[in-house]
Amino acid sequence: MEPVRQLAATLSQARRLLVLTGAGVSAESGIATFRDAQTGLWARFRPEDLATPEAFARDPALVWRWYAWRRDQIARAQPNAAHYALVEIARRLPTTLVTQNVDDLHQRAGFHDAICLHGSIARTLCSITGQAIDADWLAAHPQEPPPSPHHPRGLARPGVVWFGENLPAAALEQAYAAAADCDVVLAIGTSALVHPAAGLPAEAQRHGAWFAEINPQRTPLSGQADLCLPLAAGVALPAVLAAWNGVHA
Ligand code: OAD
Repeated sequence: MEPVRQLAATLSQARRLLVLTGAGVSAESGIATFRDAQTGLWARFRPEDLATPEAFARDPALVWRWYAWRRDQIARAQPNAAHYALVEIARRLPTTLVTQNVDDLHQRAGFHDAICLHGSIARTLCSITGQAIDADWLAAHPQEPPPSPHHPRGLARPGVVWFGENLPAAALEQAYAAAADCDVVLAIGTSALVHPAAGLPAEAQRHGAWFAEINPQRTPLSGQADLCLPLAAGVALPAVLAAWNGVHA
C-alpha cells in the first residue's frame, strides 16, 4: 500500500497514539530548526555559547538577548497545517503529544495539553530558585536580563531546558508512561539526536507499538521505523487526514 494510505489505515485502527514532535513541525511556520544545514540555528550559532547554564553564567546579556530575539520571532509566527492536523487527529484518536519545541504553536493551534519536554520560551524563571517570573515584573525591569524577584542574586532566565540540565521530571514521566501505553507512535520533524526525547519511539516499540516517522531527511530512527514518510509535516499530515477520510468512505 502507498505510505500515506498505509499510515492513515493504521491510525484509523489504532487504540492510542503517541506523537513526538521536533523543530521540523514548526519549520513551515518560518521558525528555524536547529540542525538543518544552512538554515538551522546550530549552523549559525554555537549551542555552548547560548544554550547551557555555563553560557548564561558567562554572558547573561548575550543569552537573554538571543532568546528575546527568538521569542519575538515565535510570537509573530502562526501554526501551520501540521499543527492543525495533529489537533484533528487527536479529535479522532486518543493522542498524547510530546514536543521538544519551546514555541507554543501546538497550543495556539488548539492542542492544549501537549507535554513540553524542553520547557517553554514564553516562560521566564529565576536562575536560582526556578520559580516563574511574571510579565508585570519583567515589564517593570528593562535590564537584560532583569533581576529575579525571588532571590537577591537571581536573574531572569528563559524557561527552556539547556544542554546539561535535567528535563522536567513530571513531563518525562508522563511521556514515558504514554510510550508504554500506545499502539502507534509517530516521530515528526525531529533529528532524533537529543535524548531522552529521541528514545521515546524505541520505548513505545519495546511495548509493541507500530512506529512511523515523518521527516524529509533520514534520521537515526529511520532504520527502526515500520514506515517512513519523507515529506514535510505540513504536507504529510493533511494528506494522511484526507486518506483517513477515504478509509471511512
Ligand atoms: P533539529 O533541528 O535537530 O531537527 C529538525 C528535523 O526536522 C530535521 O531532521 C529535519 O530534517 C526535519 N525537518 C525540517 N523541515 C521539516 C518539515 N517541514 N517537516 C518535517 N520535518 C522537517 O530539531 P529537534 O530534533 O527538535 O533542544 O532538536 C532537538 C533539540 O535539540 C531541540 O529541542 C533543542 C535542540 O538543541 C533544546 O532546546 C534543549
